[in-house]
Amino acid sequence: MTSTGTFITFEGIDGSGKSTQARMLADHLRALGRDVVLTREPGGSPGAEEIRALVLQGDPDRWSAETEILLFAAARRDHLERTIQPAIEAGKIVICDRFADSSRMYQGLSRGDLRATVDQLHKLMIKREPDLTILIDMDPTTGHSRAKARQTVEERFEDFGADLQEKMRAGFLSLADEFADRFHVIDGARPIDVVAHDVADVVASHLAK
Ligand code: ADP
Ligand code: TYD
Repeated sequence: MTSTGTFITFEGIDGSGKSTQARMLADHLRALGRDVVLTREPGGSPGAEEIRALVLQGDPDRWSAETEILLFAAARRDHLERTIQPAIEAGKIVICDRFADSSRMYQGLSRGDLRATVDQLHKLMIKREPDLTILIDMDPTTGHSRAKARQTVEERFEDFGADLQEKMRAGFLSLADEFADRFHVIDGARPIDVVAHDVADVVASHLAK
């Protein structure tokens, strides 16, 4: 008998609390005895982690918009082949901090309208969508100040202006409508434990289906 796992992703603007919530959900499910793989994009496999440094560090116009789409897709394909797919086939719960919806937003919206290109490449090379996507929604000003407080070298995308951050937020909310069967929107502007409680509830009802 082949068992199939569950693929859960977290999405949202920078600093909304995705990594925090992904980690807390993994701890919660492990405490319930579930087999969990916690991973992230860009990255999540050795090759994709190397691509992560290429796309997140350095000058903001280091890559053309089109080259950037290809680099994120290459990282995703490697991550899918080597980490996500094997874990799902082994019946595990995969929790991923960002996935293709981030490309639909960041590469699709930030430097012109490239959403159709992102979608075409996804259809050709990735195909897989998550079973459940949790959108941590929040106001970009708060998200941006949380993200900047981290002080890392991975800043190529963190200096988007306020207008673009608002556009990203609105874009994620409209993606949630477009893929209403798998998206759940959770208000991230509340204390960490309150958000985590809502996330755990949404995941419990999904797993009970
Ligand atoms: P993301 O992965 O979405 O960029 P993080 O989980 O890394 O966000 O959170 C960014 C920063 O905000 C971290 O310092 C984290 O501790 C803090 N943080 C996360 N969630 C909350 C929350 N609900 N309230 C206050 N601070 C938070
Ligand atoms: P991440 O480490 O999740 O940043 P944060 O914790 O600040 O949310 O992701 C790094 C950046 O990569 C983030 O600014 C969004 C960007 N990104 C894309 O542009 N396209 C993608 O497909 C992915 C997965 C991430």
